[in-house]
Order: sequence, then C-alpha cells, then structure tokens
Amino acid sequence: MYLTKEEERMLDGSYGNVVARCMKLLVKLGEKFNAERMVKIGSAQIAGVSYKNIGDPGLEFLEGFAKEGARVKVPAFMNPAGMPFNGWKELGFSEEFAEKQTRIVEAFRAMGVVIISTCTPYLAGLLPRYREHIAWSESSAVAFANSVIGARTNREGGPSALAAAITGRTPMYGLHLEENRSPTFLVEVKAKLRDIADFGALGYIVGKVMGKGIPYFKGMSTSSCDEDTLKALGASLAAYGAVALFHIEGITPEAENASKNLKDVEDKLKVDNDDIRVAYDEMCSAVDDVDVIAVGCPHASIAEIQNLISILNGKRSRVPIWVFTSEAVKRIAERAGYLEKLEKLNVKIIADTCPVVAPLEELGIKKMAVNSAKAAFYLPNTNSQVVFYDKLENIIKRFC
Ligand code: F3S
Repeated sequence: MYLTKEEERMLDGSYGNVVARCMKLLVKLGEKFNAERMVKIGSAQIAGVSYKNIGDPGLEFLEGFAKEGARVKVPAFMNPAGMPFNGWKELGFSEEFAEKQTRIVEAFRAMGVVIISTCTPYLAGLLPRYREHIAWSESSAVAFANSVIGARTNREGGPSALAAAITGRTPMYGLHLEENRSPTFLVEVKAKLRDIADFGALGYIVGKVMGKGIPYFKGMSTSSCDEDTLKALGASLAAYGAVALFHIEGITPEAENASKNLKDVEDKLKVDNDDIRVAYDEMCSAVDDVDVIAVGCPHASIAEIQNLISILNGKRSRVPIWVFTSEAVKRIAERAGYLEKLEKLNVKIIADTCPVVAPLEELGIKKMAVNSAKAAFYLPNTNSQVVFYDKLENIIKRFC
C-alpha cells in the first residue's frame, strides 16, 4: 500500500506511539481490502461510546489512550452514549452507570472529540460536503452521508473511526471509490409512501429481501422524500440489510450518474401498498398498552419535534413520550420554547442517548411504541422490548 512521506512518518513513530498504532491499524485494514493508498478525511463520527456496549474494557482502553496523548486531527463527533449527560438521575439511571459513562465522555473530551453524541451529526453542525471523504461509524449516519449528501464513507467500526480521527486518514477502498458506488439492484416503488414509518417499512422489505448491496429506487415521489423520511429509509435499510448507500431517481445527488449503470443490474424488486401493509404487521407486536412512546431513531430533527407538537395539538399524553435527539437540536427546541410546552404534554426531549444503547430494562421499561423501523429491529434483541410499530399519528391516537 502506497503511503506518503507524512503517512510513513506517522507509521514509524515520528509523531508518537498513539499515532503509530492508529496508522498501523489503518494500514492493516487497507491491506485487507486491497486499498492502494490512504485518503485524507474531513471528519469522523466515532461509535463505541455507550458504557452499556463497551463496558469496563472499552472504558479502560479509552482512558489509557487519552492519557497516552491521543488527539484528534479532524472534527469528530460521538455516537449516542448510554444516558443523557444532563437529567439522567430523574430518568432513573444508576449512579454507577452514570459514573462510568461520564468517564468515557471525559476520555473523548481529552482527545479533542466534540461532546455531541448523536447519530445525526449532519443535523447538529457536522455536515460534510458532496464527495468529501469522511470516516463515520453509525450505520444510519453512514447511509445518509453517502446517499443523501453524496459524501464518501465506509461503515467504520469504533476503533477504525477513532484511528481515522487521530491520523486524519482512512484507507481508500469500498465506498470511497467511484466504481463501487453503482447500483447493484433496482427497486420499483409502486406504493404510496407518505410517512416516516412508510419509509421504514420500505427499508424493512428491501433490506430483508435483497440484503447487502446498493439499491436504486424508481417511482418515489419527490414531495414525500425529505430529510426525515430519507434518514428513516437509510436507517431501516442499514438495519435489515446492511445497506450503506442507496440512490433515488430524481432525488439523491448521484442517482443520475448511477442510472447509467442500471443496464448491468439483474436483480429487481417491486414494492406495492400490500407489501408495505405486510411489513407493518411483521414489525409490530400486539400490545394492549406501552410504557413509553419513543420518537427519534435516528435522532429527531426539529421538524419531527414540530410535527409531534402539531399531532398532540395541546393534548397531554397518558403515556410518557421520549424524543431522542442531539444536544444541538434540543437547544434549538429550547430556544423555540418547545421544551416547556412539551413537558406539560408529558413529552421529554432526551439528548445524547438513544433507545437502543440506553439500559432500558434497568429503567423498568418493557413495552415501547415506535415509528422507527430500526428501533423495531434492535429493541427486542438489545433491550428485550416488546415493540409496537406504526405511524406516529396512529401511535398517539392509540396510546395517548
Ligand atoms: Fe440512532 Fe440509536 Fe437509532 S444510534 S439510529 S437512535 S439505534
């Protein structure tokens, strides 16, 4: 693998032991995937932040790394942590969990990582440009960055994203290369999609049937595709099918170029309204009641918060509603006066964490209603939850 003089110096220890270890890891990764060279990155998004997921070994590694002098070279944000950094006590998180989670965050802070924990960094101030190379970890963020923004990233693991942040480099392979961004199958959408949950259902079907690959969607109306529906689609495709890039005719930035390669595509799938209905049924468990209604997987935008306010229309919910988002979007909501308004309606805006990486069982939560297909995928396994899946409007009608 070709390395520049600067990269060779990183590898030979001229910039210290931490940088050398990071470069070694990236070279190994590059060699495994036959990368010819490294590429400079504009930003990193680092997974492996929740104490629930990485435990004591992860915590000790991060603290040790920070002490050894690890420092990031490019803007780097964190994935959601296991709890909100403020207000965790009133939500029922234990002191022990909070102490460990705080130490993880402090280790990242010492490394120069921006203390914003989110899977939607593009809504919180970290917005790559078209064709920019980045090293992001979280699967829905990766799908959004590649597909909707047209940036270039593979789905990084926590260690490789951290190593990329510290060296400012990532190996040039996979989705960093133009030739690997062509569609591998075609999806003809005959269904009428209107809601975030409809897009989640589409991602469920395509992910389950086709698995990995790069879908090219035809037939989707421009008016229904916005930032929120597309992030829901990417999250669902990534969860059910490990998809990291999709194209939508007339909508996503690389679709026109990608369409030139459709002639080589053999696999095709049609999705109609009946398929979407079946997907809803399959993702939804029968429940009489739920403990919490969760919104914001991926982390909610300000538009989703506004939509919730308009659906509630001043009605106080009987069941607590938790909206997961970044601290940045929470601040916007606060300035707009939404937090106070929502508190009165039994809605909490929870920053920094997410329903999947928080220890929900410890908080006594067993049944949840969600409008996120990704949450419906993970919650039964990671948090032993029984999950009710539907459009937010229907969930509110049913449980509030
Ligand atoms: Fe984000 Fe957590 Fe969902 S990381 S996409 S809110 S599972």
